[in-house]
Amino acid sequence: MNNKKCLKAQILSALLLTLALLITACGGKKPAENETLPPAESSTASVTAAPETTPAESTPAPVRLSFSEKDIHTGDLILVNSSYPFDFEANEATLDIKNIRENQSFYYQVDKLEFSVAGRILPHLDAMIAACDEAIGTKETGITSAYRTKEYQQGVMEEITAAYGEDYAKKYVAAPGYSEHHTGLAVDVGIFYPDGSQGSFSESQNAVWMRNNCQHFGFVRRYAEDKTAITGISNEAWHFRYVGMPHAFYMTAHNLCLEEYIDFLRAGTSEDEPLTVTCDDGTYDIFFTAEMEIEEPEGMYTVSGNNVDGLIVTVKRK
Ligand code: DAL
Ligand code: ZN
Repeated sequence: MNNKKCLKAQILSALLLTLALLITACGGKKPAENETLPPAESSTASVTAAPETTPAESTPAPVRLSFSEKDIHTGDLILVNSSYPFDFEANEATLDIKNIRENQSFYYQVDKLEFSVAGRILPHLDAMIAACDEAIGTKETGITSAYRTKEYQQGVMEEITAAYGEDYAKKYVAAPGYSEHHTGLAVDVGIFYPDGSQGSFSESQNAVWMRNNCQHFGFVRRYAEDKTAITGISNEAWHFRYVGMPHAFYMTAHNLCLEEYIDFLRAGTSEDEPLTVTCDDGTYDIFFTAEMEIEEPEGMYTVSGNNVDGLIVTVKRK
């Protein structure tokens, strides 16, 4: 009996010991895991998340940009001439006309207080005028014409016709609806003396400086003597048009007027074979597309209509 009792007691204590060991083993394991594994790396998470985080599937799908017919008629590169009128309706929401005098970053003369330009070109215009004045050593550069409504252009046409005759007016004044001045991207530059009188810009040193340097500020001299047959407008030393830095740079370097540049981009560039331009502030890839849906370019880019038949995409390299 004593042996049996002893055996039972031994079995019971062995069972209790095993049970105690099991409890200790299970209870001690979790803290040990938690100490060595950060919460986010729990094995459970990696197993279940793995199928959703494989490299191929974590790359975001390329964003597609969609454009409409309206976009062909808006932007810094729209061609406005006797064949391609300014589309007032398409530009209504984005014109962003700002009064020069109220928004200029330093004082320079404007012929009329109401003169305005597209707000986005004002810093470039200010910088160009400041640089011109500094180079010449005077403070005489100012603005003799800027944004014009269709009605204002009608008034200019009538005024010039009355003063110089119809033939002259047609050479120098665009028909209402067909003027670059409707875009807010064009200005006429003049000479203003301290006494308030005006000088001849065409004969000034300022005109020479501006013709040679406007591209550094994103502007082009729009109506040159040797392009009259293409632009349909006679030589205007005073009329400058904003197109943006890389375009102005390339157009000036290759003596292309806007009509020629628009044709060149259409015929000679595509998304796969862009025009690459290195200018003052970096390197850009530029291409024409007639597609109304494109893959969003990486990095900084702009898209402008050409006001003819498509879009011009400008991408700044990183
Ligand atoms: N002087 C330019 C051509 C205009 O009237 O728009
Ligand atoms: Zn003009």
